[in-house]
Amino acid sequence: MFGAAWSWFRSRVPINEEVLRHMSAEPVAGHLKRWWWCLGGTPLYLFLLQVLTGIILTFYYIPNPEHAYESVRTITQELPYGWYLRSFHKWGANLMIVAVLLHMIRVYFSGAYRNPRELNWVVGCMLLFVTLGFGFTGYSLLWEQLSYWGITVAGNILRATPLMGDLLADFMRGGQEVGTNTLTRFYVFHIGILPTVLIGFLVVHVYLIRTHGVSQLEGERSTDQKTFPFFPDHFLTELAIGAFLMFLISCLAVIFPAHMGPEANPLVTPEHIKPEWYFFWAFRWLKLMTDTQAVMTQGVFMAFIVIWPFIDGWIRKRWSRSEISIYVGIAVILYLLGLTVWEALYLLHG
Ligand code: HEM
Repeated sequence: MFGAAWSWFRSRVPINEEVLRHMSAEPVAGHLKRWWWCLGGTPLYLFLLQVLTGIILTFYYIPNPEHAYESVRTITQELPYGWYLRSFHKWGANLMIVAVLLHMIRVYFSGAYRNPRELNWVVGCMLLFVTLGFGFTGYSLLWEQLSYWGITVAGNILRATPLMGDLLADFMRGGQEVGTNTLTRFYVFHIGILPTVLIGFLVVHVYLIRTHGVSQLEGERSTDQKTFPFFPDHFLTELAIGAFLMFLISCLAVIFPAHMGPEANPLVTPEHIKPEWYFFWAFRWLKLMTDTQAVMTQGVFMAFIVIWPFIDGWIRKRWSRSEISIYVGIAVILYLLGLTVWEALYLLHG
């Protein structure tokens, strides 16, 4: 029965099984058996889960300030398994950011951003910014007090950008006020523009990975490298990791389900405005100086991360055995972690 259906299909859609077998059995470098060396697959998988759960959420969410909060409440409290769907999407988003950061840390400390992979690091940074953009726009869609005031603070920060501050802030808000236009924009970015941009960057990212191959372990030459086939070995490992992630997200969704905060009220400023944890560092930094100083220094900091492979390349041309990248990496992590913990403690006790 199945054989007849298959040959019916084959006679209409010619498939070269030999090519298919060859492509799927491509050898994968032995050191990719270490899970931390192929962490990049995790955000990819989580992104697919986010698309799936996000599409179902769009069936019920209403992107209008008058109905947005109520529609989220309906999803959370009335829709069968709506609470699970929303909580799954929320935890998936958090894990995706954690996975991207861990992947970035692995790439950094294994020196995999160096020649010839500098541009792929830059593409990776764009993927990180887009992922953070998902978090920011998604948090705002809830139209809770914290969403509303988070957008207001972001508008003030953008306005402090020299030369084009007003332009950027008005573009983000869709005018001078946070309102209907803002929510429409955030929705379009969250479900349309950002996914498209992310997929575009992913295509370039994967193309460059395929072109250069994944970097080797230090001290290992390509000639004495052990390999294993992509299919079924690597494929099954990734499948097992995927199943574990679904289990983990489900546990988090059940134990810590997504709640509803108070609805947005432009007339009442909350005592503490609280962004998502991955923006704590930037929020704390903002409190230590004027808005313009914060925008400028954060801009320089992010530009530094993006172009680091070129700075590092320049340093290593002069001092080939320099280990400065290790100290720079540790300093950046301590800086981000320090500000994050500081802000978290402030919000806890403040
Ligand atoms: C949505 C986010 C991302 C996805 C889905 C992704 C996916 C991947 C995958 C599947 C690999 C193959 C090797 C591995 O699994 O580690 C890889 C390698 C790489 N990624 Fe990413 N990545 C993302 C973000 C980033 C970020 C934020 C950076 C750095 C700023 C980055 C830089 C790199 C580099 C340089 C390589 C080559 C590593 C090597 O050859 O060892 N990626 N990425």
